[in-house]
Amino acid sequence: MASPKTAVCILEGSTEGVKGIINFKDMGDGTCSIKGEITGLKTGQHGFHVHQYGDYTNGCTSTGGHFNPYNKEHGGPDDTERHVGDLGNIMVDESGKATIDITDKQVKLDGEFSVVGRAIVVHADVDDLGRGGFPDSKTTGHAGGRLACGVIGLSPAK
Ligand code: CU
Ligand code: ZN
Repeated sequence: MASPKTAVCILEGSTEGVKGIINFKDMGDGTCSIKGEITGLKTGQHGFHVHQYGDYTNGCTSTGGHFNPYNKEHGGPDDTERHVGDLGNIMVDESGKATIDITDKQVKLDGEFSVVGRAIVVHADVDDLGRGGFPDSKTTGHAGGRLACGVIGLSPAK
């Protein structure tokens, strides 16, 4: 079977009218391109992560913590000490829209630590990338509630 090379995540808001589509593409050079658009968010920065489970039985709460197969502390996307799921923040403009264009070295679409079947979560607050000094900075980046989530599923190559 060929390795999965593309995936998609349809985000749905848990409390407000947040919506989005995120496309994942394995670039074949050890990086993964993560591109998309989310609308309906409050202007400013919002934490953006891959969480462990693709389960929203009880809303975004059921997706568990940040995807962390190497048992590290929370960090920013450019840190060595980070969860695989730590994608930092997305920036929302005045119209409530975030345009996402991330190239990440740790997110994989195949192999033992694939993110396929897991979830993307958008948070209410800014992710402090582990540097905020709050009790939860080293676990969640103090990013607050979960505004939207969706499961990462395989998609046809595009
Ligand atoms: Cu999160
Ligand atoms: Zn994290």
